Amino acid sequence: MSGRIFSGVQPTGALHLGNYLGAIRHWVRLQQDYEAIYCIVDQHAITLPQDPKELRGATREVAAALIACGIDPTHSILFNQSTVTAHSQLAWVLMCQTPIGWLNRMTQFKEKAGKQRENASAGLYTYPVLMSADILAYNATHVPVGEDQKQHLELARDTAGAFNRQFGVEFFTLPEPMILGEATRVMSLRDGTKKMSKSDTSDYSRINLTDDADTLAQKIRKAKSDPIEGVSFDPEKRPEASNLLTIYAALADRPRQAVEDEFASANFSTFKNRLAELCVEKLSPITTEMRRLLADPAEIDRILDQGAGRADAIAGPILRQVYDIVGFRQG
Ligand code: TYM
Repeated sequence: MSGRIFSGVQPTGALHLGNYLGAIRHWVRLQQDYEAIYCIVDQHAITLPQDPKELRGATREVAAALIACGIDPTHSILFNQSTVTAHSQLAWVLMCQTPIGWLNRMTQFKEKAGKQRENASAGLYTYPVLMSADILAYNATHVPVGEDQKQHLELARDTAGAFNRQFGVEFFTLPEPMILGEATRVMSLRDGTKKMSKSDTSDYSRINLTDDADTLAQKIRKAKSDPIEGVSFDPEKRPEASNLLTIYAALADRPRQAVEDEFASANFSTFKNRLAELCVEKLSPITTEMRRLLADPAEIDRILDQGAGRADAIAGPILRQVYDIVGFRQG
């Protein structure tokens, strides 16, 4: 084993192609070489309002999606965050080590709070500290994520360093971000300058892992394109074409340049048809398996509970050592 991986995903709706290409397919591969801990971060989800019933459903759905993508819960640890109390307990300790100035620099808070900054929850503001706690509760060495999480990971490293310095210990490992592959930032199908995201109001902006083959193909065919001849990679001038080429290369597991060469003189509709076929070929088996798993929610709950027990066995002792370092009297 080359280290311990931790990563998380929010259960705020169906997983999309950005989650899959930017993170989850790497999680699947990394399971072989690392001790892997994957978490469905329901406590992060409630930093924005969630319907309780939908949240519970989405947690099971994301668990099913991760298993269908190839996460092996008998090998890796898979659980939902709120079932392991060390996350929020450690978050409080780390909150007391994190200067407000660091949080003020977080771009995701600014994006998510928007003009409602004064009404945004304190949870949304301190979100990155809970994320640091997620990682540090396991002393994880590596964190595989998409590019959008980079700033949060820098904060996790800074927080770990601040704790070690404050108490004169070498306790927390500074976690290394792993931002892997061609598709570290998959863009919206409607606007190649915006990130593909669960929160986009247009369902046509993203491919969901729950989409059936027809919907999937239709979304690709309707994806925004441009009038320039051929298909080429130029994120400045051709953000949509570049995004679709990146998606193709990532799904086909081929270098982007090779895909670009193949479609250099193709027209857009030919390219889109091929991409639609590729999407269906790669994603349909996942959707089918996910549906099969979701037919037995009790089994998903059993898997998550078992994962929580294994996670707690690692995080519990780490939290107790942290409590000892900070001087909490423990009975
Ligand atoms: P979340 O739920 O937004 O996304 C889960 C993972 O998917 C990646 N991702 C993308 N990658 C490429 N292109 C996109 N359009 C795209 N959209 C999402 C994300 O980078 C992420 O890796 N804060 C995290 C969850 C979290 C976490 C953690 C991650 C909580 N605690 C500890 C790592 C370690 C989030 O909201 O991810």
